[in-house]
Amino acid sequence: MERLKDKVLSLAEELKDEVIEWRRYIHMYPELSGREFNTAEFVAERLREFGVDEVIENFAGSTAVVGLIRGKKDGPTVALRADMDALPTEEKTGKPYASKIKGVMHSCGHDAHTAMLLGAAKLLCQMRDRIHGSVKLIFQPCEERHDCKGAKWLVENGVLENPKVSAIFALHVFPELPSGVVGTKPGPFLASSDVFRVRIKGKSTHASRPHQGIDPVVISAQAVNTLHHIVSRYVDPLEPAVLTIGKIEGGFAENVIPDEVRFEGTIRTLNHEVRKRIPKLMEKALWGITTAYGGAYEFEFEEGTPPLINDEKTTLFAIGKMRELLGEDRVVLLERPTMGGEDFSVYLQHVPGTFIRLGIRNEEKGIVYPLHNSRFDVDEDALPVGVAVESYLALEWLLTHS
Ligand code: NI
Repeated sequence: MERLKDKVLSLAEELKDEVIEWRRYIHMYPELSGREFNTAEFVAERLREFGVDEVIENFAGSTAVVGLIRGKKDGPTVALRADMDALPTEEKTGKPYASKIKGVMHSCGHDAHTAMLLGAAKLLCQMRDRIHGSVKLIFQPCEERHDCKGAKWLVENGVLENPKVSAIFALHVFPELPSGVVGTKPGPFLASSDVFRVRIKGKSTHASRPHQGIDPVVISAQAVNTLHHIVSRYVDPLEPAVLTIGKIEGGFAENVIPDEVRFEGTIRTLNHEVRKRIPKLMEKALWGITTAYGGAYEFEFEEGTPPLINDEKTTLFAIGKMRELLGEDRVVLLERPTMGGEDFSVYLQHVPGTFIRLGIRNEEKGIVYPLHNSRFDVDEDALPVGVAVESYLALEWLLTHS
């Protein structure tokens, strides 16, 4: 029998033109988070066309499409995930396949993720006799926002059950790696991203008679200072964390002490414990400071995405298998995490899995722009690599664990 990796590589290469065509179509008609109606329909149609055994549209009332491919042999279930949403960016690439929707663009490469997972679905349908178990395909909406039905919603509504998923993998295009090179690391890989809002309440009075009021400007100045000491004084220096206050407002005139001052910010961490501790320390500081001055506070903490922590075992497995598939020189160990966020982290709180970066940088083609940039593009020569990686990891995971 033909070696698994050779078969996967040759099928992925055969699918290249089709995957590029899908990617360009999705790219031309981008849809914002939670409104991926046309994209979801396109995905579901393709999956049915390939003969995917189960195709669920509008999963749990969202725009998600979930597919299941049953292998010819018994075994566990592995999941592959792609996100489908675009961003409110005006595209400036000037490419023939540029966005046709004004002010909306696939500037984070989710068009490529969706197309590659479609490619893997088609490939795996052609290799059913070599699948030991099942492959679940999760086409997820709303990765870019917290206020619609993304990973958290899908997980809460059982996307990892029936059949139960034993491991999960996902790819994200990465303009800092050369085209066709993949990279990942075990452990913390991307940061949590939470938001907070604070209202400092005082008592308004004339600026010339501060003793008759309670000055929320002065209290806020103390609070802003002290909150910045949380990371530097209460968090282990070897645990990266960021607390930034990006907005502050209050007051009306130079000669009036106002009633209140509001500020808000974001917290990033790479560790679940640190993430849990910081808002508690903030609240304690706010209570202490406002009490000392006779004021009051309101503290609102909005949970975003958890830190993305790659499972040790699945990640070492993935690195080994990708080296086998692509060769040692095309798989890099990314030593440093970044403080950006990704809601794939939510799946990783429930099942072991690995988030993998796929290089799409090509200087010769001028494909060098960062994610979320209006000139961002993907070197399409990397797409079959992504298709092969997803397919091979799924096949090998099932083979090894059945
Ligand atoms: Ni993204």
